[in-house]
Amino acid sequence: MSSITSLQVFANEHFFVDLPYMKKVVSGIRPTGKLHLGNYFGAVKNFIRMQDEFESYFFIADYHSLTTHPTPADLHESVKRVFAEYIALGLDPEKCTLYLQSDLPQTAELYMFFNMNAYLGELQRLTSFKDKIRSQPDNVNAGLLTYPTLMAADILLHKGELVPVGKDQEQHLEMTRTFGNRFNRLYNVEYFPEPQAFNYNEELVKVPGLTGGGKMSKSAGEYDNIYMSDTDEVIRKKIMKAVTVTVDGPTEIGSDIPAPIQNLLELMHLVCTPDVVNHYRSAYYDGSIRFGDMKKQLAEDMCVFMKPFSDRIAEAMSNDTLISKAARQGAEKAAASADTVIKEVREIIGFKKFY
Ligand code: TYM
Repeated sequence: MSSITSLQVFANEHFFVDLPYMKKVVSGIRPTGKLHLGNYFGAVKNFIRMQDEFESYFFIADYHSLTTHPTPADLHESVKRVFAEYIALGLDPEKCTLYLQSDLPQTAELYMFFNMNAYLGELQRLTSFKDKIRSQPDNVNAGLLTYPTLMAADILLHKGELVPVGKDQEQHLEMTRTFGNRFNRLYNVEYFPEPQAFNYNEELVKVPGLTGGGKMSKSAGEYDNIYMSDTDEVIRKKIMKAVTVTVDGPTEIGSDIPAPIQNLLELMHLVCTPDVVNHYRSAYYDGSIRFGDMKKQLAEDMCVFMKPFSDRIAEAMSNDTLISKAARQGAEKAAASADTVIKEVREIIGFKKFY
């Protein structure tokens, strides 16, 4: 895909000129702890390449994290940490706009506008909402229900067109398009674009965890995740404890690879060479596999892959000047874009000054 297209602009009464136009990219991560391998492959890896090719806005979704009621101290710590991790993993504040969601109160205003045209039934049907009802039955707050309108506000506040995210966010993107299109229809304008979830590999990614369940997730506990800041020792310990199955090799000839082993193969696919992955896949089928060896191999390749990241994270975390300067610069750049959109949205809705 070419990142630069052209935009026809009216030059005078006779001519239109073609100006180069860069697509807009928006994405964010909640500051709910340290970034893990799923965040990297689902999101940040794409951010790093996209900042060179698109007009990019990457943020820390600190408003979103309030649905789980963090203490002020934990919230502050986590926001700073994820900001430093963004930079350490390769985001460059000179190439992209890197900011905190809460530095843009315009987000809250657009969220409120979208909430006026979002309906209870459609919000209740979302898989992520149903999951939250199950996982935190004592805290089913309105912020959880309206999570997708806040996400739509984040994206459409910059008129975002491409949204690099993991597979778990697909349904939220569908809702963003619904809210944007609904606004356009309601006010008879062609204002908001239709943002698409994006990954350079075409397919959206779901990185599995180490405890044999579904996607790697902070809520599944420390031993499900490999954090980008984990040391070699911690990585080895977590991988050697990863869930496998009790018997080495297939239980029946031709049987499918069980989920925990498939998960390990998928993790291998991310950090090992293809011949290593093929070797262990074949070894599973011919019964010669030893899960201990497989895990050792995965652990060693994971350590090699992670080493530069964990070192850079430690360095960035200790550089307060760098982080503060980048956050200030990002807040200014993001506000300029958000101000334009929110002003136009207010006018479309009918909030025009008469005084
Ligand atoms: P969050 O904080 O849960 O995750 C951040 C990003 O990491 C991706 N991700 C994964 N990808 C692959 N495999 C995994 N195991 C895995 N775990 C997490 C997520 O898909 C996401 O891209 N709602 C968002 C934050 C958000 C946002 C937005 C994203 C708020 N506003 C606007 C894009 C645009 C969230 O909770 O992500």
